Amino acid sequence: MSKPSILVARAIFPEVLQSLAQVFEVESNQADEVWSAAELTRRMQGKVGALTTGSERIDAMLLQANPQLKMVANMAVGFNNFDVPAMTAAGVLASNTPDVLTETTADFGFALLMATARRITESEHFLRAGHWTKWSYDMFAGAEVHGATIGILGMGRIGQGIARRAAHGFGMNVTYNNRSRLSADLEAECKARYVTKEELLKTADHVMLVVPYSAESHHTIGAPELALMKRTATLVNIARGGIVDDAALAKALAAGQIAAAGLDVFEGEPKVHPELLKVSNVVLTPHIASSTVKTRRAMAQLAADNLVAYFTKGQALTPLNTLNGAAA
Ligand code: GLV
Repeated sequence: MSKPSILVARAIFPEVLQSLAQVFEVESNQADEVWSAAELTRRMQGKVGALTTGSERIDAMLLQANPQLKMVANMAVGFNNFDVPAMTAAGVLASNTPDVLTETTADFGFALLMATARRITESEHFLRAGHWTKWSYDMFAGAEVHGATIGILGMGRIGQGIARRAAHGFGMNVTYNNRSRLSADLEAECKARYVTKEELLKTADHVMLVVPYSAESHHTIGAPELALMKRTATLVNIARGGIVDDAALAKALAAGQIAAAGLDVFEGEPKVHPELLKVSNVVLTPHIASSTVKTRRAMAQLAADNLVAYFTKGQALTPLNTLNGAAA
């Protein structure tokens, strides 16, 4: 019997590709080209499965042009690149890669918070530019992290990981806002206090964004929200581009309305709003929160394992939707 054909839409670890090749006929993209929607649709022709990253959009148009498609496995925990209702309607299973990246991403959230509050990249640029000629009492004086109040917007697994680090490692006061409240046990474990979004923004020294992107969470932080924050506050976005209105943030940073921001994700990335590039009180990283070798390997393997499990056993490991019809 011939192997089912799948598309691996971006470059991944060769050993993961090899493990897929044992089960599937694989078309890969080790050159790591970023295909247009039309090219992705064309490459999907004849494929029953695909492994994607957050950069490939799976929408009704692509699904309509590929009625043979049965499953798409995303190598990301976020899945705003998937139109899940359209996939369900088309009988296409969707999966993501939760859990394997939780702690690594929480580590990065903390790293970005520290770099932002303690002005690490800004001061390194100063040093590299040869401007460091003497010690000064207030040189790159930043904001305190230990003992400060961190407000976490979005209290899923990664938000909870950040809360634990903040409360237990840095003695911070933790407030949070989320669509649903945590159980009393989890709140106690994270030492986190549930507050309204408004109270969180008004009282936090550091605001950490970990909400999933959706139409409802678009511009969760815009000009009105930035106006509520303390002038000394920092804002960290490790969630998704579009959660923050980047133009409004660049204005607030330039005007000193908040002290600083740390951003790993951007509206329209990999493009970065030009006004953000002009301000010095922002730390910018290219969407790398989950990027350790171990974790990216685990994400790729989980995405691959999802495909194998679905096509060989009819059951994915971490599915995002439920289908009525038969599996593979
Ligand atoms: C990365 O942004 C992810 O969603 O895994």
